[in-house]
Order: sequence, then C-alpha cells, then structure tokens
Amino acid sequence: MKFITLGNLRIFSFTTTASIFILMLLGSYTSSIGAGLACPDWPLCPNITSYPIFIEFLHRTWSMVTLLFILITLFIALKLKGNGYEGIKKSTYALITVFLAQVFWGALNIFLTLNPIIVTVHQGLATLTFGLALILTLQAYQRR
Ligand code: HEM
Repeated sequence: MKFITLGNLRIFSFTTTASIFILMLLGSYTSSIGAGLACPDWPLCPNITSYPIFIEFLHRTWSMVTLLFILITLFIALKLKGNGYEGIKKSTYALITVFLAQVFWGALNIFLTLNPIIVTVHQGLATLTFGLALILTLQAYQRR
C-alpha cells in the first residue's frame, strides 16, 4: 500500500490541525490553573508529583506529539509528485518554522518565568500556527 498519497496528506494535515487545537486548549488550561511554572525545568520535569506538574508536562508532551504529525505531513508533502503542490509545500514549510519557533518560545516562558511579553507572543504564535495548519488542510482538500 502506498503511503505518499494525497489522501494521506489530507488525513495528516487534518490530524495536525486537530492536534494543535487540543494543544492550545491544554496551554490555556495550564495557564488558567496557574500551572505555568509548576515544572521549573525544561525540557523535562524531574518528578511528576502533582496535578499541576502533570498538566504542564502534558502540554509539553502533546507539543512533541503534534511535532511528529507535522513532520509526517511535511514528509508526504515534499515527496508528492505532480503539478500544483507548490502552495502546499510553502504552507508546510511555514508551519514547521513557526511551530519550532513556538517550542523555543515555550521554553522561554519557563526560563523567563512567564514574562508577560513572552506569554503574549506565545499565544500569538499559537494562533498563527493553528491558522497555517488550517490553510494547509484546506489546500490539501481543494487539490484534485
Ligand atoms: C515544549 C514546548 C512548550 C512549552 C514548554 C510551553 C509552555 C507553556 C507554558 C508554561 C504556558 C503557560 C503560560 C502561563 O501560565 O501563562 C503555556 C501556555 C500556552 N501554550 Fe505553550 N508551550 C509549548 C508549546 C506550545 C505550542 C507548540 C503551542 C501551540 C501551537 C502552545 C500553545 C499555548 C497556548 C495557547 C497557551 C495559553 C496561553 C494563555 O492562555 O495565555 N504551546 N505554554
């Protein structure tokens, strides 16, 4: 069975978008229960000994699951042959770039102890990431 197909690009771009949506909910929940600094280290938490630490670590772990979906989407988009994939490839590159910047920015949230500017930009990059994933999904579904 072939893996590099337009059908799989549609499945993985949609899964990526849904995963980013869940990640944003986890981030908001982390923030609203005051768990932003529950885990003082990065990238790992030394011990998961309380509910707030678990939630903060879940937000980080889910971002790695989401990264995996993005990488699979990128792999399929780059391998697909034929005309008309240029826009899809550009969107996938933009998505991975902004997403990696967001992971770096997430680490800054911790190291700069939730500086308001850093937290605000983290929220902005999240919206941008979601928007790019949605555009990519729509492009994949419009492609005939
Ligand atoms: C390893 C990577 C990441 C780390 C360490 C991290 C860390 C954090 C922390 C500590 C907060 C809580 C901020 C607060 O208490 O005010 C937060 C919130 C949030 N994160 Fe992340 N994050 C990461 C990746 C991401 C990614 C990739 C996205 C989305 C694409 C994302 C979206 C959000 C959102 C939407 C919030 C809520 C912001 C708010 O309500 O003000 N995060 N993140």
